[in-house]
Amino acid sequence: MISEPISSTQMAHQAAAAIFPCQDLVSIRDLGAAEINGIFSLATRLKSHPADFRTALAGKHVAMFFEKPSLRTRLTFEAGVAGLGGSISFVDQTSGRLDARETLSDIAHNLERWVSGIVLRTFAHSTVQGMASYARVPVINALSDLEHPCQALADYFTLQQRFGNLKKICLAYVGDGNNVAHSLLLTAATIGSKIRIATPQGYGPDVQIVADAKEIARHTGATIELLTDPREAVAGADAIYTDAWTSMGHEHEEAERARIFPPYQVNDALVAGAAPHAVFMHCLPAHRGEEITNEVMDSPRSVVFDQAESRLHVQKAILISLLGGENTRMPVRNAHA
Ligand code: CP
Ligand code: NVA
Repeated sequence: MISEPISSTQMAHQAAAAIFPCQDLVSIRDLGAAEINGIFSLATRLKSHPADFRTALAGKHVAMFFEKPSLRTRLTFEAGVAGLGGSISFVDQTSGRLDARETLSDIAHNLERWVSGIVLRTFAHSTVQGMASYARVPVINALSDLEHPCQALADYFTLQQRFGNLKKICLAYVGDGNNVAHSLLLTAATIGSKIRIATPQGYGPDVQIVADAKEIARHTGATIELLTDPREAVAGADAIYTDAWTSMGHEHEEAERARIFPPYQVNDALVAGAAPHAVFMHCLPAHRGEEITNEVMDSPRSVVFDQAESRLHVQKAILISLLGGENTRMPVRNAHA
């Protein structure tokens, strides 16, 4: 008997199902090295052969709720779902918290009846955790106060495209120990890479995230260095990364931070201490003249728009992994009947 040739779309679905046992992406801690490598190899194929995946999410609908503004994350999820043959609804939640009108569990038990996946950008990380625990469809963290996993995965995918072996590179993060720093730290730990984080005293990464990253690093061989001197952090580094001094939700601290953070500005003098081939990274939006100068942002070593492009490929890989094919949590059992 001659069997039907397997299509590239079917192959893509099978590959995704094989690499992604988790049900949600709330934190990088949800992933192991095999899952991250799987996302990166799927993203590589999505980047080179997007047409192979045109129907990967056919018939699937995604709901997005954002409590904070967004350019990149919103549009890459919208373009990503459309490019995979699915559809998406965006709910602007910036005028009030997601659970202000009814409980999170009630919202979850509505959404799981209508949609195949939920994408959340929130203040409290517990909102994303809560939605993931209540909803019987996959939940993706599109940024919370604690983490920005889609960003960090796109960033390390960008570095892999540039340098190849991620275990051999050193990323120096300079600035605020925020959500982006947390997800970069956990990603570096999981894939066995080297990361240095330089922050002002009192603005370092969350202690639990650091403890978890160190525990993961014990098994993967990753190297983690937490510093306060930006020059020490960038010395010989392959990549220099910075982010806003004041993240969304901390606007009331802006004046204080503007006084403390200037020694952490990524400028030509600081970049001179990195490896000659070092790239400059920023999740964007950038605050030119604050954490980053125009010279560095616009220099040939800047890969900030490659990072922005990677958001699309990596999020498509995440969406296929969580929502594609038969890979759905709905409805295993009807606990609310
Ligand atoms: N980097 C990032 O998440 O950008 P947005 O806030 O514009 O989504
Ligand atoms: N740390 C920033 C990232 C923005 C994409 C913030 O949370 O505002």
